[in-house]
Amino acid sequence: MKAVSTFLVLLNFLTSCYGWTCTAAPQQLDAAQLDAGEGMVVMTDKLSNVFFLSGSSWSKLGSVPLKHVSVGPAGIWGVNHNERVFKFAAGDFIPVLGLELKQVDAGGESQVVGVNVSNTIHCLDASKALSIKQQGLVTWNTLEGQLMYFSCGPNGCWGVNSFQQIYFTKVSPNSCGISGWTKTDGAAVKVEVGTDGRVFVVNSSGNLYERMGISDSVPQGTGWSNVDFCLPIKHASYDLGRLWLVTEGGVILACTN
Ligand SMILES: *[C@@H]1O[C@H](CO)[C@@H](O)[C@H](O)[C@H]1NC(C)=O
Ligand SMILES: *[C@@H]1O[C@H](CO)[C@@H](O)[C@H](O)[C@H]1NC(C)=O
Repeated sequence: MKAVSTFLVLLNFLTSCYGWTCTAAPQQLDAAQLDAGEGMVVMTDKLSNVFFLSGSSWSKLGSVPLKHVSVGPAGIWGVNHNERVFKFAAGDFIPVLGLELKQVDAGGESQVVGVNVSNTIHCLDASKALSIKQQGLVTWNTLEGQLMYFSCGPNGCWGVNSFQQIYFTKVSPNSCGISGWTKTDGAAVKVEVGTDGRVFVVNSSGNLYERMGISDSVPQGTGWSNVDFCLPIKHASYDLGRLWLVTEGGVILACTN
């Protein structure tokens, strides 16, 4: 009964508050983080279980507990609580040895990027990222600079540092070479780039922004537009026309505009 009334309150909230049209997605208790890419939606819960969305329910993905999971052209990648890196292969997550990272992103042009607990920035080139089929040692490139969160899409990569400053760069998928860092306006704690290049950030108050004016000639875009949600947002991810949100309260929403 409580669940039903909470749901109704939520629905009311949705219709009255959103610029985007959002509906409650299939729910999974204690949702912590979510990533959408290549048509797949994956998530972790507070107990580090990994799930993927199939039809109207979440199914367990693999047997390895992970605190962060990412899906994209490079496959499905994640990290566990000891900062060990894993790639999904042959039905389960296999360890990728070489570096310990607190966050990885598989959304670039088949390269994988990530940051470690000291906020150093790392990249695994596309040929290495794609060819891993079994547990093994890989050599990551280290990029200059320091970030606490890093995400790539087809038009470039976006990161936020520990001062909540937002940076853009292009990363070459084959060499992991970068075009240099461009600092943008605004402040954020998390950034996610969709597989189609749309860029969203969440600030420390849980407010969501989308980058406007991104084009081939201005890949860093021109400004931030506040996506006005009434609920504080913990996590946002965008793929194939759908914006996926996890609210601070752990509710999963799917939105279109
Ligand atoms: C993070 O990576 C840098 C560069 O590879 C390394 O020097 C540092 O020790 C790493 N930090 C941790 C905690 O592993
Ligand atoms: C987050 O965004 C909201 C909405 O624009 C703004 O009012 C708030 O000051 C921002 N918080 C921080 C810490 O930047």
